[in-house]
Amino acid sequence: MDADFKSSLADQIALVTGAAGGIGRAITDHFVARGARVIAWDKDPSRLKTEGIASERLVTQQIDLTDSRAVASAAENFILTYGAPHILVNNAGIQGAIAAVEDQTDADWQRVLDVNLTTVFTVTRSFLAAMRGQGYGRIINMASVAGVCGLPDGCAYGASKAAVIGFSKGLAKELMLSGVTVNCVAPALIDTELQEQMTSEYLAEVTSRIPMKRLGRPEEVAEMVGWIASPASSFTTGAVFDVSGGRLGY
Ligand SMILES: NC(=O)c1ccc[n+]([C@@H]2O[C@H](COP(=O)([O-])OP(=O)(O)OC[C@H]3O[C@@H](n4cnc5c(N)ncnc54)[C@H](O)[C@@H]3O)[C@@H](O)[C@H]2O)c1
Repeated sequence: MDADFKSSLADQIALVTGAAGGIGRAITDHFVARGARVIAWDKDPSRLKTEGIASERLVTQQIDLTDSRAVASAAENFILTYGAPHILVNNAGIQGAIAAVEDQTDADWQRVLDVNLTTVFTVTRSFLAAMRGQGYGRIINMASVAGVCGLPDGCAYGASKAAVIGFSKGLAKELMLSGVTVNCVAPALIDTELQEQMTSEYLAEVTSRIPMKRLGRPEEVAEMVGWIASPASSFTTGAVFDVSGGRLGY
């Protein structure tokens, strides 16, 4: 296999959650450009621009991932229609309230864990038998620097992302001999709509902690995800990939 062939995504079926957001859109564009067929799940898929992309290359489906019955049914339809995904990117996520722990409500805490952590479990579980049966797969879960370093005034977010890393490492071990790899990506602050949930002071403070002194671009995350998603990434599982402008000193 030559290098170009191994990094191509030609004829691969990819499921991307949260595909209509900043990072999800960049991942979707990257996958389509590399030859994959993308099924894009989002609760608000209308924000994903599909003009110029052949309809067989990109299919958008509206789904609230916190509805586990809807996820199970959508996954069943997916497998009947497309077979097992070669690539599953669990990317949907929310920031939640920017608040110190003593000011955090039960409802906000639960919502962040439901969206950022539980949906990774329910979506992944729905596809595991099919991916195992296929004997090949790339599962990529969107974590965050916050899950490695912690995030003051964002403890629910940081806890959810740390748990995504723990989940991914455990699942990688369960799937070690299956041909399905499981990895995480841990970006620092990336320039997307997610920042609309932050005040400008908070944004400036978090940006100042990035050694490269700038926000990351969604395309920079997509490049990393594109490699992990490819057949070239064949000997790495249970890892956390850094896209942090030097922020993470492990
Ligand atoms: N932007 C950053 O600075 C940053 C940094 C590190 C990690 N991340 C992570 O990257 C991922 C993508 O973030 P983004 O910046 O593109 O955010 P975004 O807000 O631009 O996009 C998130 C997408 O997820 C979708 N979504 C949210 N809840 C959903 C649900 N219940 N069901 C279906 N879809 C749902 C939204 O509709 C949206 O399209 C998230 O997991 C986020 O935590 C982002």
